[in-house]
Amino acid sequence: MRIIKVALGTNSYEVRVGPGLLSQAGRWLSELGFGNKLVIITDPSVNRLYGEMLNRALTEFDFNVNTLLVAEGEDQKSLETAGRLYHQLTDCYTERSTPILTLGGGVIGDLGGFVAATYMRGVPLVQLPTTLLAQVDSSIGGKVAVDHERLKNKIGAFYQPKLVIADTDTLKTLPAKELANGMAEVIKSAAIRSKEFFAYLEGNLDRIKSLDENVLEEVVFQTASIKAEVVEKDETDLGLRNILNYGHTIGHAIESVTDFSMGHGSVVAIGMVAAATISNRMGMLDKNDLHRLKNVIVSTGLPTKLPNIKVEKIVQAMRHDKKVSQDRIRFILLKSLGSALVSDDVSPSLVEKVLIGDEKT
Ligand SMILES: NC(=O)c1ccc[n+]([C@@H]2O[C@H](COP(=O)([O-])OP(=O)(O)OC[C@H]3O[C@@H](n4cnc5c(N)ncnc54)[C@H](O)[C@@H]3O)[C@@H](O)[C@H]2O)c1
Ligand SMILES: [Zn+2]
Repeated sequence: MRIIKVALGTNSYEVRVGPGLLSQAGRWLSELGFGNKLVIITDPSVNRLYGEMLNRALTEFDFNVNTLLVAEGEDQKSLETAGRLYHQLTDCYTERSTPILTLGGGVIGDLGGFVAATYMRGVPLVQLPTTLLAQVDSSIGGKVAVDHERLKNKIGAFYQPKLVIADTDTLKTLPAKELANGMAEVIKSAAIRSKEFFAYLEGNLDRIKSLDENVLEEVVFQTASIKAEVVEKDETDLGLRNILNYGHTIGHAIESVTDFSMGHGSVVAIGMVAAATISNRMGMLDKNDLHRLKNVIVSTGLPTKLPNIKVEKIVQAMRHDKKVSQDRIRFILLKSLGSALVSDDVSPSLVEKVLIGDEKT
C-alpha cells in the first residue's frame, strides 16, 4: 500500500492506494473513531461487484450499515436525487457523527460528497473511488457538486473527505472506455507536473493495458500525489489549481458543442494535443515533447484530432467561456513535458488553425 498525506491543516486526510484495500475499510473506519453506524451511497453495478465485500469488511468491525442506491449516470448528479437521499438519510436516523461512504465513480463521489457536505450542515465523508478517474482525480481535493439546469457542477461546495481508500483491484472490472477516461487525466497530470512520471508512463503502457497490479498502484499513486500537491497549494481554486484544467479548455468546448456525446477522456485528449500544439507555435514546448505526448495518447487508444465538427463553433464556445479580453482566450500551456503555465494571451485564430490542423506538426 502507498499513502499520500493531503496536508490541509484541520482538513487534512490520507489517500491510501493499493490492491485489496476495501477489505481493510472496517479496521480503518473504526480507527477514525466514528460511531457504529455508517451509510454507503453507491450505484447498482458497483454494489453488485463490491457491495457484499465492503459490507463484510464493515460488519466484521460491528458497524451497522445502511446502503442507499442511486441509478447510474451523470443525470443523477441532481438536486432531485440529493433530495431523495436526504429523505432516506432521515429515515435511517442518521446523526451528525454518522459517516457517508461513497462507493463508485466520480458521479457517486460528487453527489454523495455534496449530500455529506450539506446534510445536517455536514457529516463525515469517506471516499471509496472505484473508477480510475475517481481514484486519481475526483475523490481528492474536496470539490463536491451536483449539476443544475444543464450546467455541470453548478451547485457545490469544497468539502474534504476524512479518508480516501483507492482499492486498485476494483479497476480490473472497469470497462475499457472508463479506463481510457481515467488515463486522459493520468497523462494530463504527468504532462503538467512531472517529466519523470511521463517517462514512466511511456515505458509502461502495455502493463497499464494488461492491468499489472504494481503498475496500476504506481500510476494511481503518482497521479493522486500530483493532484494532492496542487490542491494543498490552492485548496479553493484561486490560482495553481487552474493547471489541472490542461486539455479541458478545448475539451469542455467540445463537450458543449457535441452535447456530451463524446467521452470525457476523448475530448480532454484532443484538447491536450491542441494546447500542446499551441504551446509549440508560441515558442514553448519543443517538437520532440509534442510528439512524445501524441504518442502516449495514441497508444492509450485516445483520439488526437477533432472528428467532423465545425471548428468555429468550438472556438465560439471557448470565447464565451474563457475570454480574457476581446481577442484573447485563457489557456493552460506547456513549457515542456512536466511544466505548465496559465496564459492569457492565446489568440482565437491560432486555436482555430491548430484545431483545423492545417498547420504542419
Ligand atoms: N470532484 C472533482 O474534482 C471531479 C473531477 C473530475 C471529474 N468529476 C466528475 O466525475 C464524474 C465522472 O466520473 P467517472 O468518470 O468515474 O464516471 P461515473 O461515476 O459515471 O462511472 C462510470 C461508470 O462506471 C461504473 N463503474 C464504477 N466503478 C466500476 C468498477 N470498478 N467496475 C465496473 N464498473 C464500474 C459505474 O457504475 C458507471 O456506470 C463527472 O460527473 C465529473 O463531473 C469530478
Ligand atoms: Zn477531466
